[in-house]
Amino acid sequence: MEPGLIKLVDELLEAMARKNEVDLIEKFAAAIPIGIIGNLLGVPEQERGPLREWSLCILGALEPVLTPERANDGNRAVTEFLTYLKTLVDERRAHLRDPATDVLTRLILGDEEGERLTENQLHHQCIFLLNAGHETTTNLIGNALYALTEWPDQKARLLEQLVSVESFKTAVEEFLRFDSPEQLGNRITTQEVEVSGIRLPPDSRINICIGAANRDPGQFRDPDRLDLSRDPNRHVAFGFGIHTCAGLNLARLEARVALSRFLARFPRYALSGEPVRGGRARFRGFLHLPARLEF
Ligand code: HEM
Repeated sequence: MEPGLIKLVDELLEAMARKNEVDLIEKFAAAIPIGIIGNLLGVPEQERGPLREWSLCILGALEPVLTPERANDGNRAVTEFLTYLKTLVDERRAHLRDPATDVLTRLILGDEEGERLTENQLHHQCIFLLNAGHETTTNLIGNALYALTEWPDQKARLLEQLVSVESFKTAVEEFLRFDSPEQLGNRITTQEVEVSGIRLPPDSRINICIGAANRDPGQFRDPDRLDLSRDPNRHVAFGFGIHTCAGLNLARLEARVALSRFLARFPRYALSGEPVRGGRARFRGFLHLPARLEF
């Protein structure tokens, strides 16, 4: 997967170089996971236009406090996405790829014992994959590019280590901790449990604040400081336990390749306007990040 990812990133960098002033979210951070997940599912390039908007609307409807407008937008996006997926799945069934190189074909074929997903499960797995893997990775890359403009000393250190894969791996972990793309997790208790002296009955709905845990002074020295060489860095940006993020290796790879190649190409980039935040509690990131690439 890495060679394809490098090609995608380099094409985006090349297209941005011709503009000099760009929105780093639209032209870079969001374009990478859309390209990757679009390829995973085998969505034709000319049909990827609405994917980001659908994803933003569906994830907006997962906010802890839901407005009627957000709920409507989320439901509308699911309906539109389902309509599109039905066409995509029918088309793929009619022309199954052999060998199955895309995730959608594998989901259609089922496992070796012949167990298959129902049509409904299949469509919702596709929606879940897009949502889980798109906005979070966009936010990781976008938040990192923003943080580097706020912490010039850290940016300078990273620029000195451009060829070190290990340095970028360590840096990505700190970006995940410092500005966690997903700030809230959820659990439902299956039995009575006591946490820090508080008794929770079975079937309690719990919001877990990943963002706060990742700034816990009991776990991290100087937690509000971006330290791109922080080690150890036992953050919980990908959750924990049996439901730990299934795409964490992909997300780490995307961020490492994107950030290292971006910095190598545009080491002097700087913000050129007011960044616009997404305005949501669960998913932390930017809608727009205007920047000038070279001076
Ligand atoms: C920076 C990027 C990402 C972040 C921060 C992130 C974060 C998370 C978090 C916090 C969870 C919940 C874990 C829990 O409840 O303990 C999760 C679950 C999940 N993520 Fe990610 N994720 C990212 C990227 C991706 C990607 C790229 C994919 C796939 C393409 C993906 C697929 C999934 C799936 C399938 C689950 C559900 C796992 C389960 O319930 O067993 N994620 N992710």
